Amino acid sequence: MKFRIFVAVAISATFAFGTAFAQQPIVIKFSHVVALDTPKGKGAEQFKKLAEERGKGRVKVEVYPNSQLYKDGEEMEALQLGSVQMLAPSVAKFGPLGVREFEVFDLPYIFDSYSDLHKVTEGAVGKMLFAKLESKGITGLAYWDNGFKDFSANKALKVPADVKGLKLRIQSSNVLEAEIRALGGIPQKMAFSEVYQGLQNGVVDGTENPPSNFYTQKMHEVQKYLTMTDHGVIEYAVIVNKKFWDGLPPDVRSALESAMKDATKYANDIAKKENEDALEGVKKSGKTQIITLSPEEKAAWKKALLTVHKEQESRIGKDVIQAVYKDTGFKP
Ligand code: LMR
Repeated sequence: MKFRIFVAVAISATFAFGTAFAQQPIVIKFSHVVALDTPKGKGAEQFKKLAEERGKGRVKVEVYPNSQLYKDGEEMEALQLGSVQMLAPSVAKFGPLGVREFEVFDLPYIFDSYSDLHKVTEGAVGKMLFAKLESKGITGLAYWDNGFKDFSANKALKVPADVKGLKLRIQSSNVLEAEIRALGGIPQKMAFSEVYQGLQNGVVDGTENPPSNFYTQKMHEVQKYLTMTDHGVIEYAVIVNKKFWDGLPPDVRSALESAMKDATKYANDIAKKENEDALEGVKKSGKTQIITLSPEEKAAWKKALLTVHKEQESRIGKDVIQAVYKDTGFKP
């Protein structure tokens, strides 16, 4: 009798363990550095929602916003080591990984509109750039938009010469470094999570970002002026650990692909409005004065910055730059 009870208990324990084990969802840790209330923050939440719905209980997406888990300079390695499965860094942050061609997106004034940008991200250049990630153990899934960057400082930046001698925070891109030097400023590479403090304590005098990042990181509290230069873009590459992605059961992977496709549409559809709303928020705060530029004033910024295109040919590759010019119709 005792033996039969023992066998029954053992069988049901094994069954329960097996079932519990079989039901363990696949966890995707998705780390990023911006606030929830931004195009990328909202895009990540939308992906989580769709992936969990379409994964039918087999997938759990844990989103870690605001550099909670990893900050710039740490997150790429964490992805390669498999400590996180998904990231969406700005394309200005791929240089340290050895894929310098992504810095083509950082060339000043190379994009006039979101539609120009999409011609590149959805075309051959976008694909070519993703192919370069494979040898780094990374798979590119999608490009997500944020918006056009503006310069900020505690000094009014009306003409390019106003930047002279100012320390401006930039992302880890050599093209952005050249951009600040072209204006006579002093570029300072700094992790996004440290920018507010850097501005507050004067380690840097100013920075460049789209309104959505400027507002949600409360930079308006520590910057007196924001100049609508629209001189560049913040664009993201949503990337995954290749080994993790390739090892997924095919049906789970296709559910995730479909979730990513729809989350990408969502994120890119809201990006422009999110930035407009953020700019309104900055205006309403009354803390930062917005400087708008006349077409002539904007042309002066463009003239001062376009030298960077030629200068950075050897870093990015002339062929890559030419391919982007061709897609967007840009004439240097
Ligand atoms: C920055 O570091 O300025 C931005 O790229 C942050 C982000 O991810 O938008």
